[in-house]
Amino acid sequence: MNVATMKREAISAATEADPSNAFFAVRDIHAYYGESYIVQGVTLDVKKGEILALLGRNGAGKTSTLRTIARMDDPQLRSGEIWLEGKPLHTMKSWQASRAGIQLVPEDRRIIPGMTVEENLVLAQVAPGHGMSIEELYQHFPRLAERRRQEAVTMSGGEQQMLAVARALAREVKLLLLDEPYEGLAPVIVKEIETIVHGIKERGITTIIVEQNAVAALRLADRAVILDTGELVFAGAAKELLESEELRNEYLAI
Ligand SMILES: Nc1ncnc2c1ncn2[C@@H]1O[C@H](COP(=O)(O)OP(=O)(O)O)[C@@H](O)[C@H]1O
Ligand SMILES: [Mg+2]
Repeated sequence: MNVATMKREAISAATEADPSNAFFAVRDIHAYYGESYIVQGVTLDVKKGEILALLGRNGAGKTSTLRTIARMDDPQLRSGEIWLEGKPLHTMKSWQASRAGIQLVPEDRRIIPGMTVEENLVLAQVAPGHGMSIEELYQHFPRLAERRRQEAVTMSGGEQQMLAVARALAREVKLLLLDEPYEGLAPVIVKEIETIVHGIKERGITTIIVEQNAVAALRLADRAVILDTGELVFAGAAKELLESEELRNEYLAI
């Protein structure tokens, strides 16, 4: 058996035989931007309440994988299956996936200008499928409570990131997708967001976190997968990756 086959077997050993029975399952998805073939057969499972770190070098296809899961128009899913609690996301549009409980917090955060923090949160609750109440959100995000009347785009990057996460939690969320939540943030803010994500996990919310800051993501995660040019090359315990310099050197160059 060659190394590539062994890796593939190790990756598939971590997945449920019947994906419609899994909490969340991705099976051999292939997605394209026009003719550019980017997501090249990703398979993974996430258990309820778990935090999965999705890692890999810049350009590996992490954002594209999250966008495919959230059923955005781009990249276009051409084959494969995506299941959330028995619901076939692969047959859905992004608004249907969102109603089914997939909430993507994109890298650029998309905070609405001209609105206060609280107005941003209230607006998120207009869509069907309520999540946490504004008061519950303020308990998880005390900084946002302090700044509830401030125009949201005038806050620091870290505070805007907290708002982006809080806004996703104002919707009904079963699976939270975080795309580089720590980008550009000071270590003290990263720690604060880590604490918040831990608090969310305790409420039973399941998360996939994509991060360039692999060490911070691994501190938080239960399990990790590594993408390389649109394919999974590693699946295992977060701790295993955190403790193995060899693995990190090989796949993450850190
Ligand atoms: N809108 C797009 N159109 C065409 N190619 C894209 C588009 N967005 C990303 N890509 C390409 O897809 C590959 C994966 O990108 P991406 O998913 O953003 O990687 P990562 O998030 O891991 O850095 C890259 O080669 C990138 O150039
Ligand atoms: Mg990206």
